[in-house]
Amino acid sequence: MEGIKVNQIGVSFKGIGSYVPDQVLTNQKISQKVDTSDEWIKSRTGISERRISRLEDNVTEMGYEAALNAIEMANWDIKTIDLIVLATSTPNDLFGSAPSIQAKLGAYNAVAFDLTAACSGFLFALITATQFLKGGSFKRAIVIGADQLSSFVDWNDRRSCILFGDGAGALAVEATNEFDNFIGFDMRTDGERGSFLNLPSTNNKDSIIDNIDFLSGGFSPIQMNGQEVYKFAVREVPIILEKLFRNTNYSSDEVDWLVLHQANQRILDSVGDRLKIPREKILSNLEKYGNTSAATIPLMMDEAIRNNRIKHNDIIATSGFGAGLSWGAALIKWG
Ligand code: COA
Repeated sequence: MEGIKVNQIGVSFKGIGSYVPDQVLTNQKISQKVDTSDEWIKSRTGISERRISRLEDNVTEMGYEAALNAIEMANWDIKTIDLIVLATSTPNDLFGSAPSIQAKLGAYNAVAFDLTAACSGFLFALITATQFLKGGSFKRAIVIGADQLSSFVDWNDRRSCILFGDGAGALAVEATNEFDNFIGFDMRTDGERGSFLNLPSTNNKDSIIDNIDFLSGGFSPIQMNGQEVYKFAVREVPIILEKLFRNTNYSSDEVDWLVLHQANQRILDSVGDRLKIPREKILSNLEKYGNTSAATIPLMMDEAIRNNRIKHNDIIATSGFGAGLSWGAALIKWG
């Protein structure tokens, strides 16, 4: 890792990639498990189906595939990558899954670590990585969002199990002293409202030897107050984006694409309406994948870039939001 130290001003986006497991769970199939229907799920969320990991699709494997696609698009020599940040809440190793992605890629010159911020994770990881790049410490970074929430969903809870799916996305970001395509960002946390969405650890008391107890590790399934999370998202996301537009001297008219965390189509539409961004500029693929947590934003961007919808120099307003509660926004120019 040598970094670039002179006249460092910004970053550019060089590549993007994604991966989803091939196992499809449709609304119709969920309705064989819990009391729900395709019509109910589609009208309340916009989701038709989601992908569910098989044994071989853990966060390391999904994140690796997504990163590889991004690196191929960037046309980078893997040895030149300095930093890998993996946003995930569901690592297949609690000590971190980023190092195993680094090893699988053979990116031996990169420092690699996990970052946990649930559905805001990708955005927080992107912001973290860009700070290292703009500060001159690193030149090339891979930012990955990957989650396997299917392992932590209560498949008997119809209020939450309909929402989530598995997947990964990754972005290749490079420092440059010529321009800055990371226009601005903002981030927020409100732990007071954290109980609206949790994946808490379980505390099963056991004993090591006489009089010395310990708590065995484990997690209970996702607990969610859907109505409160919905209200939080439709209130806070427009506020943080409006503030970002003000701080960067951009207006919502100048935005080519709104790429929100894919949680619920009604949330996407409501935020777009509040910001007066027309529906055709609001990217959505949650019909096919549901809410893949930290993966949704790069998964959506990958699809739109490879389909030539997002083009070089397009302005993208993006926002991640979810458990914590946490939320954030960034304004970027693609390329
Ligand atoms: N199928 C059929 N009925 C369902 C159902 C399902 N899958 N889930 C809930 N219901 C029922 C409820 O039991 C309730 O019935 P009742 O009135 O007889 O008690 C009724 O539908 C309304 O429930 P409610 O929770 O008010 O529904 P909603 O309109 O708020 O929709 C969500 C529920 C989960 C779709 C919605 O709240 C939501 O999307 N919230 C945001 C969640 C989110 O995005 N989380 C991740 C953030 S990163």
